Amino acid sequence: MHKHIFEPFKFKRDRLLLLDQTKLPFEEVWLELFDSDMIIEAIQSLRVRGAPSIGICGAFALYLSIYNNNDILTDEKLLKKEADKIKNCRPTAINLSWGVDKVVKFVNNCINLNEIFDFVYSLYLQEIEINDKIALNGAKVLPSGNILTHCNTGSLAAPGVGTALGVIRKMFQMRKLNLVYVSETRPLLQGARLTVFELERDAIPYKLVIDGASGMLMRNSMVDAVIVGADRIAANGDTANKIGTFMHALAANYYNIPFFVAAPMSTIDFSIATGEDIPIEERDGSEVIKCMNSFTNKSDTSALNYAFDITPAKFIRAIITENGVYSPNEILTLFE
Ligand code: MRU
Repeated sequence: MHKHIFEPFKFKRDRLLLLDQTKLPFEEVWLELFDSDMIIEAIQSLRVRGAPSIGICGAFALYLSIYNNNDILTDEKLLKKEADKIKNCRPTAINLSWGVDKVVKFVNNCINLNEIFDFVYSLYLQEIEINDKIALNGAKVLPSGNILTHCNTGSLAAPGVGTALGVIRKMFQMRKLNLVYVSETRPLLQGARLTVFELERDAIPYKLVIDGASGMLMRNSMVDAVIVGADRIAANGDTANKIGTFMHALAANYYNIPFFVAAPMSTIDFSIATGEDIPIEERDGSEVIKCMNSFTNKSDTSALNYAFDITPAKFIRAIITENGVYSPNEILTLFE
Protein backbone atom coordinates (compact mmCIF):
# COMPACT_ATOMS: atom_id res chain seq x y z
CA MET A 1 0.00 0.00 0.00
CA HIS A 2 1.29 3.46 -0.90
CA LYS A 3 2.04 5.50 2.19
CA HIS A 4 0.73 8.74 0.74
CA ILE A 5 -2.60 7.38 -0.43
CA PHE A 6 -5.62 8.70 1.36
CA GLU A 7 -8.20 6.14 2.50
CA PRO A 8 -11.66 7.67 2.71
CA PHE A 9 -13.31 4.64 4.31
CA LYS A 10 -12.55 2.09 6.99
CA PHE A 11 -14.49 -1.14 7.33
CA LYS A 12 -15.49 -2.28 10.84
CA ARG A 13 -17.54 -5.41 11.61
CA ASP A 14 -20.60 -3.33 12.60
CA ARG A 15 -20.14 -0.04 10.72
CA LEU A 16 -18.47 1.91 7.97
CA LEU A 17 -16.27 4.85 8.87
CA LEU A 18 -16.52 7.34 6.05
CA LEU A 19 -14.76 10.60 5.33
CA ASP A 20 -17.50 13.07 4.38
CA GLN A 21 -16.36 14.38 0.97
CA THR A 22 -18.94 17.17 0.99
CA LYS A 23 -16.95 18.87 3.76
CA LEU A 24 -13.57 18.73 2.00
CA PRO A 25 -11.20 20.49 1.78
CA PHE A 26 -12.23 22.69 4.70
CA GLU A 27 -12.97 20.03 7.30
CA GLU A 28 -12.09 16.34 7.66
CA VAL A 29 -15.26 14.91 9.20
CA TRP A 30 -15.55 11.14 9.72
CA LEU A 31 -19.04 9.62 9.79
CA GLU A 32 -20.10 6.35 11.41
CA LEU A 33 -22.63 4.52 9.25
CA PHE A 34 -24.39 1.54 10.79
CA ASP A 35 -26.83 0.37 8.12
CA SER A 36 -27.61 0.39 4.41
CA ASP A 37 -29.97 3.38 4.70
CA MET A 38 -27.19 5.50 6.18
CA ILE A 39 -24.83 4.42 3.39
CA ILE A 40 -27.50 5.12 0.75
CA GLU A 41 -27.96 8.62 2.15
CA ALA A 42 -24.17 9.13 2.00
CA ILE A 43 -24.02 7.95 -1.62
CA GLN A 44 -26.96 10.10 -2.72
CA SER A 45 -25.58 13.19 -0.96
CA LEU A 46 -22.12 12.54 -2.46
CA ARG A 47 -20.48 12.13 0.95
CA VAL A 48 -18.91 9.21 -0.89
CA ARG A 49 -18.78 9.41 -4.67
CA GLY A 50 -16.83 8.24 -7.68
CA ALA A 51 -17.93 5.05 -9.44
CA PRO A 52 -15.49 2.52 -7.91
CA SER A 53 -15.85 3.98 -4.39
CA ILE A 54 -19.63 3.73 -4.46
CA GLY A 55 -19.29 0.17 -5.80
CA ILE A 56 -17.29 -0.85 -2.74
CA CYS A 57 -19.51 1.08 -0.31
CA GLY A 58 -22.61 -0.45 -1.94
CA ALA A 59 -21.14 -3.92 -1.42
CA PHE A 60 -20.42 -3.06 2.22
CA ALA A 61 -23.96 -1.68 2.63
CA LEU A 62 -25.35 -5.10 1.71
CA TYR A 63 -22.96 -6.76 4.17
CA LEU A 64 -24.27 -4.42 6.90
CA SER A 65 -27.88 -5.27 5.99
CA ILE A 66 -27.03 -8.93 6.53
CA TYR A 67 -25.14 -8.14 9.76
CA ASN A 68 -28.20 -6.30 11.07
CA ASN A 69 -30.73 -8.89 9.91
CA ASN A 70 -29.48 -12.45 9.49
CA ASP A 71 -32.83 -13.51 7.96
CA ILE A 72 -31.63 -11.93 4.71
CA LEU A 73 -29.18 -14.80 4.35
CA THR A 74 -31.90 -17.40 3.98
CA ASP A 75 -34.64 -15.30 2.38
CA GLU A 76 -33.93 -14.84 -1.32
CA LYS A 77 -36.68 -12.25 -1.81
CA LEU A 78 -35.46 -10.15 1.09
CA LEU A 79 -31.88 -10.32 -0.21
CA LYS A 80 -32.99 -9.15 -3.67
CA LYS A 81 -35.13 -6.34 -2.21
CA GLU A 82 -32.23 -5.05 -0.12
CA ALA A 83 -29.77 -5.40 -3.02
CA ASP A 84 -32.10 -3.53 -5.42
CA LYS A 85 -32.61 -0.71 -2.93
CA ILE A 86 -28.85 -0.16 -2.77
CA LYS A 87 -28.26 -0.62 -6.52
CA ASN A 88 -30.90 1.94 -7.45
CA CYS A 89 -29.70 4.76 -5.25
CA ARG A 90 -27.58 6.31 -8.03
CA PRO A 91 -28.34 5.23 -11.60
CA THR A 92 -25.35 6.03 -13.81
CA ALA A 93 -22.30 4.28 -12.33
CA ILE A 94 -22.47 0.59 -13.19
CA ASN A 95 -19.90 -0.13 -10.48
CA LEU A 96 -22.61 0.22 -7.81
CA SER A 97 -24.58 -2.73 -9.24
CA TRP A 98 -21.33 -4.57 -9.85
CA GLY A 99 -20.32 -4.37 -6.15
CA VAL A 100 -23.76 -5.31 -4.81
CA ASP A 101 -24.19 -8.18 -7.31
CA LYS A 102 -20.81 -9.60 -6.30
CA VAL A 103 -22.03 -9.86 -2.70
CA VAL A 104 -25.38 -11.37 -3.74
CA LYS A 105 -23.55 -14.06 -5.72
CA PHE A 106 -21.17 -14.75 -2.84
CA VAL A 107 -24.06 -15.04 -0.37
CA ASN A 108 -25.71 -17.63 -2.60
CA ASN A 109 -22.78 -19.93 -1.79
CA CYS A 110 -21.73 -18.81 1.68
CA ILE A 111 -23.75 -17.67 4.67
CA ASN A 112 -20.92 -17.09 7.13
CA LEU A 113 -20.95 -13.44 8.20
CA ASN A 114 -17.19 -13.21 8.76
CA GLU A 115 -16.52 -14.66 5.34
CA ILE A 116 -18.90 -12.15 3.74
CA PHE A 117 -17.03 -9.34 5.50
CA ASP A 118 -13.71 -10.76 4.30
CA PHE A 119 -15.11 -11.05 0.77
CA VAL A 120 -16.11 -7.37 0.64
CA TYR A 121 -12.72 -6.40 2.04
CA SER A 122 -11.03 -8.51 -0.62
CA LEU A 123 -12.99 -6.63 -3.32
CA TYR A 124 -11.56 -3.41 -1.91
CA LEU A 125 -8.00 -4.79 -1.92
CA GLN A 126 -8.43 -6.06 -5.49
CA GLU A 127 -9.54 -2.59 -6.62
CA ILE A 128 -6.35 -1.12 -5.15
CA GLU A 129 -4.28 -3.52 -7.26
CA ILE A 130 -6.43 -2.90 -10.35
CA ASN A 131 -5.89 0.84 -10.04
CA ASP A 132 -2.11 0.37 -9.73
CA LYS A 133 -2.21 -1.49 -13.05
CA ILE A 134 -4.37 1.18 -14.70
CA ALA A 135 -1.91 3.82 -13.47
CA LEU A 136 1.05 2.04 -15.02
CA ASN A 137 -0.71 1.20 -18.29
CA GLY A 138 -1.85 4.80 -18.64
CA ALA A 139 1.42 6.44 -17.68
CA LYS A 140 3.16 4.46 -20.43
CA VAL A 141 0.83 5.67 -23.20
CA LEU A 142 0.09 9.28 -22.30
CA PRO A 143 2.39 11.88 -23.83
CA SER A 144 4.64 13.87 -21.48
CA GLY A 145 3.68 17.40 -20.57
CA ASN A 146 0.53 19.14 -19.38
CA ILE A 147 -2.55 17.05 -18.65
CA LEU A 148 -6.10 18.29 -18.23
CA THR A 149 -8.53 16.34 -16.05
CA HIS A 150 -12.14 16.74 -14.94
CA CYS A 151 -13.98 15.87 -11.72
CA ASN A 152 -12.18 13.75 -9.11
CA THR A 153 -10.85 10.32 -10.00
CA GLY A 154 -8.29 9.91 -7.21
CA SER A 155 -8.17 8.02 -3.92
CA LEU A 156 -11.46 9.58 -2.86
CA ALA A 157 -13.24 8.23 -5.93
CA ALA A 158 -11.58 4.82 -6.28
CA PRO A 159 -9.55 2.64 -3.90
CA GLY A 160 -5.79 3.18 -3.85
CA VAL A 161 -4.31 5.64 -6.32
CA GLY A 162 -7.59 6.19 -8.21
CA THR A 163 -8.13 5.81 -11.95
CA ALA A 164 -7.33 8.85 -14.15
CA LEU A 165 -5.66 10.57 -11.21
CA GLY A 166 -3.69 7.38 -10.59
CA VAL A 167 -2.31 7.68 -14.13
CA ILE A 168 -1.40 11.30 -13.41
CA ARG A 169 0.29 10.27 -10.14
CA LYS A 170 2.30 7.64 -11.97
CA MET A 171 3.30 10.11 -14.71
CA PHE A 172 4.56 12.43 -11.99
CA GLN A 173 6.65 9.59 -10.50
CA MET A 174 8.01 8.81 -13.97
CA ARG A 175 8.84 12.52 -14.53
CA LYS A 176 6.49 12.67 -17.50
CA LEU A 177 4.24 15.27 -15.95
CA ASN A 178 4.73 19.00 -16.13
CA LEU A 179 1.43 20.34 -14.84
CA VAL A 180 -2.17 19.23 -14.26
CA TYR A 181 -5.03 21.50 -15.29
CA VAL A 182 -7.90 20.71 -12.95
CA SER A 183 -11.31 21.84 -14.13
CA GLU A 184 -13.55 22.95 -11.31
CA THR A 185 -16.49 20.64 -12.12
CA ARG A 186 -19.54 22.72 -11.43
CA PRO A 187 -21.90 22.51 -9.67
CA LEU A 188 -20.43 20.46 -6.81
CA LEU A 189 -16.77 21.25 -7.48
CA GLN A 190 -15.28 17.76 -7.25
CA GLY A 191 -12.29 19.05 -9.26
CA ALA A 192 -11.76 22.26 -7.30
CA ARG A 193 -12.30 20.77 -3.86
CA LEU A 194 -11.25 17.14 -4.11
CA THR A 195 -8.72 16.80 -6.94
CA VAL A 196 -6.85 19.86 -5.71
CA PHE A 197 -6.94 18.40 -2.16
CA GLU A 198 -5.29 15.20 -3.44
CA LEU A 199 -2.73 16.93 -5.68
CA GLU A 200 -1.73 19.24 -2.83
CA ARG A 201 -1.11 16.23 -0.57
CA ASP A 202 1.17 14.68 -3.21
CA ALA A 203 2.86 17.99 -4.08
CA ILE A 204 1.95 17.51 -7.75
CA PRO A 205 1.99 20.82 -9.68
CA TYR A 206 -1.47 21.95 -10.82
CA LYS A 207 -3.52 24.93 -11.91
CA LEU A 208 -7.20 25.10 -11.11
CA VAL A 209 -9.22 26.36 -14.09
CA ILE A 210 -12.89 27.03 -14.66
CA ASP A 211 -14.72 24.37 -16.67
CA GLY A 212 -15.16 26.65 -19.67
CA ALA A 213 -11.42 27.39 -19.94
CA SER A 214 -10.36 24.12 -21.56
CA GLY A 215 -10.99 25.26 -25.16
CA MET A 216 -8.84 28.34 -24.65
CA LEU A 217 -6.02 26.35 -23.03
CA MET A 218 -6.05 23.90 -25.92
CA ARG A 219 -6.13 26.66 -28.51
CA ASN A 220 -2.98 28.07 -26.87
CA SER A 221 -1.21 24.66 -27.05
CA MET A 222 -1.14 24.46 -23.26
CA VAL A 223 -2.62 20.93 -23.02
CA ASP A 224 -0.86 17.78 -24.29
CA ALA A 225 -3.56 15.27 -23.34
CA VAL A 226 -6.85 14.96 -21.46
CA ILE A 227 -7.60 12.07 -19.12
CA VAL A 228 -10.86 11.41 -17.27
CA GLY A 229 -12.56 8.54 -15.46
CA ALA A 230 -15.85 6.85 -16.33
CA ASP A 231 -19.10 5.88 -14.67
CA ARG A 232 -20.20 3.49 -17.39
CA ILE A 233 -18.74 2.47 -20.74
CA ALA A 234 -21.11 1.04 -23.36
CA ALA A 235 -20.13 -1.91 -25.56
CA ASN A 236 -19.28 0.47 -28.44
CA GLY A 237 -16.95 2.56 -26.25
CA ASP A 238 -19.32 5.50 -25.67
CA THR A 239 -18.55 6.71 -22.15
CA ALA A 240 -20.62 8.33 -19.40
CA ASN A 241 -18.71 10.59 -17.04
CA LYS A 242 -19.24 13.76 -15.02
CA ILE A 243 -21.14 16.51 -16.82
CA GLY A 244 -18.69 18.68 -18.72
CA THR A 245 -16.51 15.78 -19.88
CA PHE A 246 -18.07 15.87 -23.35
CA MET A 247 -17.19 19.55 -23.81
CA HIS A 248 -13.53 18.83 -23.00
CA ALA A 249 -13.60 15.92 -25.49
CA LEU A 250 -15.09 18.13 -28.21
CA ALA A 251 -12.45 20.79 -27.74
CA ALA A 252 -9.65 18.21 -27.58
CA ASN A 253 -10.80 16.66 -30.85
CA TYR A 254 -11.03 20.02 -32.56
CA TYR A 255 -7.38 20.67 -31.67
CA ASN A 256 -6.27 17.05 -32.24
CA ILE A 257 -5.27 16.57 -28.60
CA PRO A 258 -5.55 12.94 -27.40
CA PHE A 259 -8.45 12.28 -25.05
CA PHE A 260 -8.14 9.23 -22.75
CA VAL A 261 -10.54 7.41 -20.42
CA ALA A 262 -9.16 5.38 -17.49
CA ALA A 263 -11.45 2.86 -15.79
CA PRO A 264 -11.50 -0.69 -14.43
CA MET A 265 -12.99 -3.43 -16.63
CA SER A 266 -15.96 -3.49 -14.21
CA THR A 267 -17.03 -0.09 -15.59
CA ILE A 268 -17.75 -1.63 -19.00
CA ASP A 269 -21.42 -2.55 -19.37
CA PHE A 270 -21.56 -5.04 -22.25
CA SER A 271 -25.35 -5.23 -21.88
CA ILE A 272 -25.62 -1.69 -23.22
CA ALA A 273 -24.95 -1.20 -26.92
CA THR A 274 -24.35 2.55 -27.05
CA GLY A 275 -24.24 5.62 -24.83
CA GLU A 276 -27.85 6.40 -25.79
CA ASP A 277 -28.98 3.67 -23.40
CA ILE A 278 -26.92 4.72 -20.37
CA PRO A 279 -29.21 6.16 -17.67
CA ILE A 280 -28.19 9.70 -16.82
CA GLU A 281 -28.77 10.89 -13.28
CA GLU A 282 -30.66 14.16 -12.99
CA ARG A 283 -30.06 15.88 -9.69
CA ASP A 284 -31.94 18.62 -7.89
CA GLY A 285 -31.77 22.01 -9.61
CA SER A 286 -30.97 23.62 -6.25
CA GLU A 287 -27.34 22.42 -6.70
CA VAL A 288 -27.00 24.67 -9.76
CA ILE A 289 -28.14 27.83 -8.04
CA LYS A 290 -25.64 27.42 -5.23
CA CYS A 291 -21.89 27.48 -5.04
CA MET A 292 -20.94 25.55 -1.93
CA ASN A 293 -23.62 26.78 0.44
CA SER A 294 -24.05 30.29 -0.95
CA PHE A 295 -26.83 31.09 -3.35
CA THR A 296 -25.76 32.42 -6.76
CA ASN A 297 -29.33 33.31 -7.65
CA LYS A 298 -32.80 33.56 -6.13
CA SER A 299 -33.90 30.30 -4.51
CA ASP A 300 -36.85 29.90 -6.92
CA THR A 301 -34.64 30.04 -10.05
CA SER A 302 -35.50 27.24 -12.43
CA ALA A 303 -32.45 25.03 -13.16
CA LEU A 304 -31.66 21.81 -15.01
CA ASN A 305 -29.03 19.56 -13.46
CA TYR A 306 -27.82 16.53 -15.44
CA ALA A 307 -25.01 14.97 -13.41
CA PHE A 308 -23.32 13.12 -16.31
CA ASP A 309 -22.88 13.33 -20.05
CA ILE A 310 -21.91 10.92 -22.79
CA THR A 311 -18.68 11.22 -24.76
CA PRO A 312 -19.05 9.38 -28.08
CA ALA A 313 -16.45 6.69 -28.74
CA LYS A 314 -15.15 8.54 -31.80
CA PHE A 315 -13.76 11.27 -29.55
CA ILE A 316 -11.84 8.84 -27.31
CA ARG A 317 -8.25 7.98 -28.31
CA ALA A 318 -8.02 5.02 -25.93
CA ILE A 319 -9.63 3.38 -22.92
CA ILE A 320 -7.07 2.43 -20.28
CA THR A 321 -7.94 -0.57 -18.10
CA GLU A 322 -6.06 -2.94 -15.80
CA ASN A 323 -5.92 -5.47 -18.65
CA GLY A 324 -4.50 -3.14 -21.25
CA VAL A 325 -5.10 -0.07 -23.38
CA TYR A 326 -7.82 -0.39 -26.01
CA SER A 327 -9.22 1.71 -28.77
CA PRO A 328 -13.00 2.13 -28.16
CA ASN A 329 -13.88 -0.09 -31.13
CA GLU A 330 -11.99 -2.98 -29.50
CA ILE A 331 -14.18 -2.89 -26.38
CA LEU A 332 -16.76 -5.32 -27.73
CA THR A 333 -14.03 -7.88 -28.44
CA LEU A 334 -13.26 -7.99 -24.67
CA PHE A 335 -16.65 -9.53 -23.88
CA GLU A 336 -16.18 -12.96 -22.32
O1 MRU B 1 -21.01 12.55 -9.19
P1 MRU B 1 -19.68 11.94 -8.91
O2 MRU B 1 -18.75 12.84 -8.16
O3 MRU B 1 -19.81 10.57 -8.29
O4 MRU B 1 -19.04 11.71 -10.35
C1 MRU B 1 -17.79 11.06 -10.42
C2 MRU B 1 -17.24 10.98 -11.79
O5 MRU B 1 -17.85 11.37 -12.76
C3 MRU B 1 -15.92 10.29 -11.93
O6 MRU B 1 -15.21 10.83 -12.99
C4 MRU B 1 -16.15 8.80 -12.20
O7 MRU B 1 -17.03 8.26 -11.25
C5 MRU B 1 -14.88 8.04 -12.20
S1 MRU B 1 -14.18 7.98 -10.57
C6 MRU B 1 -12.74 7.10 -10.63
